[in-house]
Amino acid sequence: MDFADKTVVITGGASGIGAALAELLVEKGARVALADRNIEAVQEAASRIGCMGFYCDVAEETQILTLLGSVQKELGEVDCFVSNAGVFDSQPSHVGSASNEDWSRNWCVHVMAHVYAARALLPQMLKRGSGYFVNVTSAAGLLNQIENAAYSATKHAAVSFAESLAITHGDAGIGVSLVCPQYVATPLIGLTDQDAKASAGLLTSAQVAESIVVGVEANQFLILPHPEVANFAQRRAQDHDGWISGMQRMRKTAVSKLGRASIADLYKII
Ligand SMILES: NC(=O)c1ccc[n+]([C@@H]2O[C@H](COP(=O)([O-])OP(=O)(O)OC[C@H]3O[C@@H](n4cnc5c(N)ncnc54)[C@H](O)[C@@H]3O)[C@@H](O)[C@H]2O)c1
Repeated sequence: MDFADKTVVITGGASGIGAALAELLVEKGARVALADRNIEAVQEAASRIGCMGFYCDVAEETQILTLLGSVQKELGEVDCFVSNAGVFDSQPSHVGSASNEDWSRNWCVHVMAHVYAARALLPQMLKRGSGYFVNVTSAAGLLNQIENAAYSATKHAAVSFAESLAITHGDAGIGVSLVCPQYVATPLIGLTDQDAKASAGLLTSAQVAESIVVGVEANQFLILPHPEVANFAQRRAQDHDGWISGMQRMRKTAVSKLGRASIADLYKII
């Protein structure tokens, strides 16, 4: 899809990947609506970038509908919806230890928000025979995020939903791109562009945004800003037991070298 003159909604746009993507898309001539539950930060990002900022808690279907109504009024019919909002709550101890509230938030933000956007937009997109969904999930959705079961499980579900979208509607003019980054220096994991300079495995939001644009312009389903993720996924598919042993070793190494296996440190040992 060519972004010029298209109306694009990006959720979770107050910072990180969403804000970096908005910046590139505005340069490409798209009309961008940035949405986030952090209203002050999204308004600030939108005025810096030169696009419109909207409040939206994507966990609530009614708020996605309200957002879409406002965007259609201000910018015209939505051509592309980027589901990018994400949360990362740390896991207190064992894999079942996160609260029901955390599990529910992960489920609503990472999965149901993607469903709500598709449910609201597909009828009109199918009618006109065009539309595009960019679903930002994670390498954790193809592999696993050590020490965060809720994040991993819901990102897997989001990968599956994007596959269903593409399989069911891809031949009816609906484009779908699934974005599965590994480590990216953003507020989500408490890292900055400065940290990314010191490590090849840690990308900046701008680098990830660039891969998304290249992938969507090529109508590519799977976008892997870290290409090595394809090798890890292949290893997992070929020898699942061996892959589990490798992940156990990685977790042990992280705990012994870094004292913990936190997301903000794991990029140092992969
Ligand atoms: N940073 C990484 O290492 C990494 C790796 C793989 C995937 N991702 C994914 O990339 C996406 C973007 O994250 P980021 O790294 O740019 O982090 P970020 O923290 O900069 O952006 C996430 C944004 O989502 C917003 N958000 C959270 N819950 C929301 C809700 N209910 N409604 C609306 N907005 C909400 C936050 O306010 C924040 O602005 C997420 O889906 C994340 O899971 C990030």
